[in-house]
Amino acid sequence: MRVTLKEALNLLQNGEVVALPTETVYGLAAAINQPQAIRNIYKLKGRPSTNPLIIHVDAIKTIEAYVQEFPPKFYDLAEVFWPGPLTIILPVNEEIVPEIVRAGLPTGGFRIPNHPLIRELLKLSGPLVMPSANLSGKPSATDADHVEHDFGIEFPVLDGGSAAKGLESTILFYQGEHWVIGRMGAIEPEAFAAVLGYRPEFAGASDKPICPGQHFRHYAPKAEILLKKEELDQAKVILGYRERRYPEGKRVIFLGSKDDPAGVGENLYRVLRQLDQEHIDEVWVDMDIPAKGLWGTIEERLRRAAKK
Ligand code: TXA
Ligand code: MG
Repeated sequence: MRVTLKEALNLLQNGEVVALPTETVYGLAAAINQPQAIRNIYKLKGRPSTNPLIIHVDAIKTIEAYVQEFPPKFYDLAEVFWPGPLTIILPVNEEIVPEIVRAGLPTGGFRIPNHPLIRELLKLSGPLVMPSANLSGKPSATDADHVEHDFGIEFPVLDGGSAAKGLESTILFYQGEHWVIGRMGAIEPEAFAAVLGYRPEFAGASDKPICPGQHFRHYAPKAEILLKKEELDQAKVILGYRERRYPEGKRVIFLGSKDDPAGVGENLYRVLRQLDQEHIDEVWVDMDIPAKGLWGTIEERLRRAAKK
């Protein structure tokens, strides 16, 4: 059910959960001071209680009230990349940031999103906690229809159109005198070099990931996904790129152009959701893609989607 910004604000202030647009993916929002609504977010998504939520705010000064200590270059990163698809993990004052938001960790993830509606709303609502608006494990929602598909036609959604990035925020964490990437996302690692002087490493895939969310199955449609660099001739359905030639007689669903990773990122979850809508049970993905820039995020999402 589509709601206006004013209705969304009223619902949030009354302790309800509302889906909101951001430039990355849609989020399932609750006010940070509404613990019952936050508990409901976990319930609605089927999200493990060990997976913390990102705190979305309107301005850097709002974060200062929560944080114990800012690592070097924090303000430079914030100035260059906010508002935008960056989440920064920071040590927080545990008495001020509710435990349920942090899943018991001594840190909080913070982001100033960049979508006109959420920017306007955050100024009125104060900080909102917001995971992606999808059932846990499934592809994220990049438009209001996706949200209604997962949570029902009556679920309140502020419709902000199709998400511009289509991939979640990149998560940075300061560790051992360096910034590292806890989750690949809509900002490519190379982009941080201008601010940091180096390209942060992805430290997210280990046994003990920085972001607990990396542990869980994610982004997965019902279809079996096979990742292939070549020999797609046995495929029934192929996920591929517009300029490439594929074996005759195959159904090809295009992710976009091989020269436009941002466009592929924007389409990715929509295409994964389309597989379920069409009851496709097996798909082969053309993984002959460059190992740089946003392709790294796209590859990581496809690998996770393919995991059983
Ligand atoms: O683009 C995005 O970040 C979207 C939009 C709605 O803002 N949100 C999003 O939230 O992707 P979610 O809940 O789907 O993913 C949040 C990730 C999880 O992997 C979680 O483990 C990690 O952020 N995270 C949150 N707080 C953390 C913390 N204090 N320490 C480490 N990881 C944290
Ligand atoms: Mg998510």
